[in-house]
Amino acid sequence: MGKEDPIRYVCGSCGFSTVTRTGKCPSCGQWGTFEAMQPAPVLSETRRPGPRVEVVSAVSVTPPKRLLSGISELDRVLGGGLVPGGAALIGGQPGIGKSTLLLQAGGLVASGGTPVLYVSGEESSAQVALRASRLGVASEKLLLYCGGDLEDALSNLSDRKIGFFILDSVQAVKAPSEAGWPGTPNQVRAVAQLAVDAARSAGVPAVLVGHITKDGRLAGPMLLEHMVDTVLTFSGEGYSSYRMLRAVKNRYGNTDELGVFEMKETGLVAVEDKSGLYWNRTDGATSAPGVAMTVALEGATPLIAEVQTLASLTAFPYPKRTSRGIELNRFQLLTAVLEKRAGIACGGYDLYLNIAGGLSIQDPSADLATCVSLASALRDAPLRGDCCYLGEVGLAGEVRPVSRLAVRLREAARLGLKRAVVSGRERDGKDEGIEVKRADSLIEALKLGGI
Ligand code: TYD
Ligand code: MG
Repeated sequence: MGKEDPIRYVCGSCGFSTVTRTGKCPSCGQWGTFEAMQPAPVLSETRRPGPRVEVVSAVSVTPPKRLLSGISELDRVLGGGLVPGGAALIGGQPGIGKSTLLLQAGGLVASGGTPVLYVSGEESSAQVALRASRLGVASEKLLLYCGGDLEDALSNLSDRKIGFFILDSVQAVKAPSEAGWPGTPNQVRAVAQLAVDAARSAGVPAVLVGHITKDGRLAGPMLLEHMVDTVLTFSGEGYSSYRMLRAVKNRYGNTDELGVFEMKETGLVAVEDKSGLYWNRTDGATSAPGVAMTVALEGATPLIAEVQTLASLTAFPYPKRTSRGIELNRFQLLTAVLEKRAGIACGGYDLYLNIAGGLSIQDPSADLATCVSLASALRDAPLRGDCCYLGEVGLAGEVRPVSRLAVRLREAARLGLKRAVVSGRERDGKDEGIEVKRADSLIEALKLGGI
């Protein structure tokens, strides 16, 4: 680089850099995020520090001793608890329950004897204390800092021998070193950096709360996710009291785990038996016409789901098709396959499809259960209540294999299902404690279902 390197302007949100200051970032579309960056001084050859290399086998790899939050689902999603010196970021829509979850976790850790600092830039200490007492987690070792100055808040870490701190939220507090209002990209980045550095130097775990925008992105700079060790998302459907916790990035564990909570009067309660959520358990051998079971995968977690279809004679020239839980286009495509390949006429019926419990399935493995449920509704013939259907259905009416069949079969067996209908091309599934029937085509699968 030449001596007269120009000043560059860097977007605080996405890192795009340019030589002219502009109002709107041409890369990420955010406004007012550019800041001037002085070119870094070039070190002379002689002063350049030599690269420090280490022998990989000589590096100490004792796993860090983790701090358990006391909430089993949270600890599992974190990969086995909180890591001292590590920072996790939990993102979610306003009102989903982030503050509730972390106050519960903080309270439980504090009641175990470890001092916990809860920094809230959003609520007053009276509000947080009231919530803590309602959740039954108010304890002597749970310390609150309600205010907007993060540096001031973090100065309590060493004085009070804090063993875990929570920052609620990165958008609501201010880093004094940086100009701008709380919540602007530069501020959010500075706040997160301050919190991450404080956690690392104090050797305590930190959890930061981040709000997300309407399109599901964490509000603030995109760099935010790179600054922390773990990124969790907390989500839920508007009408349901269930909440899902997932890791989208985890330097200390895998990202396959799913944690499920139910929001109750007394706070968030872990749901251990997840499949029960989406399955109206019927003990009888048969169920109502139009009901078929399947096992969907949510990340790595198998969930039993009940596909329900209702067919009613239509009074309209264009029959109605509605679908909740499976994409409408997919449902319409499967209706056409059923009509063409299995000869079951759908034309004169309004068709309504629903996945019980509000589960939304993207996985094509639910195709077969959808088709069988449709056929059962149209023929008004009930299916066996203890049988599940696992397969993708192609346009030729063929039944195709699904991913991780063994995991799904084990889950079905665990919840008391007796039989599974799968693709004839499936290799495994022999010894999973459930009778497995194979079908190459939709017609064969319908025959096995007694339709
Ligand atoms: P909150 O944790 O404040 O959400 P976030 O921090 O993600 O914005 O939770 C908000 C909602 O949770 C609120 O609308 C009320 C509900 N809630 C309960 O149903 N039970 C409870 O015990 C608590 C504390 C909250
Ligand atoms: Mg909150």
